Amino acid sequence: MNHIEVDRLSKSYHIAKREEGFLGAVKHLVSPQYEEKQAVKGITFSIQEGESVAFLGANGAGKSTTIKMLTGILKSTSGTVRVLGRDPFKERMTNAKNIGVVFGQKTQLWWDIPIIDTFRLLKDIYEIPEAVYRKNMELFMEILGLEEFLQQPARRLSLGQRVRADMAAAILHEPSVLFLDEPTIGLDVAVKQKVYEFLRYINKEKRITILLTSHDLNDLESLCQRLIILEAGNILFDDGLKKIYDLYPKAETLEEIVIGLFNRRAH
Ligand SMILES: Nc1ncnc2c1ncn2[C@@H]1O[C@H](COP(=O)(O)OP(=O)(O)OP(=O)(O)O)[C@@H](O)[C@H]1O
Ligand SMILES: [Mg+2]
Repeated sequence: MNHIEVDRLSKSYHIAKREEGFLGAVKHLVSPQYEEKQAVKGITFSIQEGESVAFLGANGAGKSTTIKMLTGILKSTSGTVRVLGRDPFKERMTNAKNIGVVFGQKTQLWWDIPIIDTFRLLKDIYEIPEAVYRKNMELFMEILGLEEFLQQPARRLSLGQRVRADMAAAILHEPSVLFLDEPTIGLDVAVKQKVYEFLRYINKEKRITILLTSHDLNDLESLCQRLIILEAGNILFDDGLKKIYDLYPKAETLEEIVIGLFNRRAH
């Protein structure tokens, strides 16, 4: 069964076109000019239940825009998106119960209350049965090492602690699909390892479908069997990890291949 289906999906942003300086600002006030920026240009792909897919691309390629459309945060300009058979934008509430989202750059934790209270609130919001809650909390303590800071508010956590707590908060309700946009940004190597161990566990043991963006290519190979590479809003590659090595037999690492692909675009 396909958990994610994307068909000819596009997204254009309206950007204000403004000349420099004070005069430019005044001109813009009098007659505002806009231009269209097409961030995602009609991409098509589907992801099956239990797959874990890396979503790669240079800065500005359209990864976050796509993830925002898949999670119902942004409305597409054209094309269709289905997550677990639903339109994520139109059915945001139902969709939210079945997906988990982690944006490495932003937190979904309440800033001022102890982490443990955030988890209890999420338990009520998602109507998580007590037994499931306890079992998952035990798992998070074990793999993510949350115990040391459960009583602290999010604002007092280090980046790595916050991301680990965010990760736990995103899957406490046992979603079928997990979206992660740069979840390991700025993390130290040991925490990164913990995060990937956790993701591997929930992908393998709980069969949670994962779509993850990262610029940290070294860690990806232990988790993702498939890569989708975006280039300026288009899909450049969509296949198994092994396939990309077959295409570039001289390359030794994924990083080498991806750097080659990005540089090719620049020339
Ligand atoms: N809210 C917005 N308004 C206007 N343009 C935007 C907006 N968000 C993104 N863009 C533009 O859309 C394009 C794709 O951006 P997006 O954030 O999806 O890229 P990305 O692949 O996630 O890049 P990165 O690796 O830097 O996170 C970029 O050119 C960006 O400037
Ligand atoms: Mg991004």
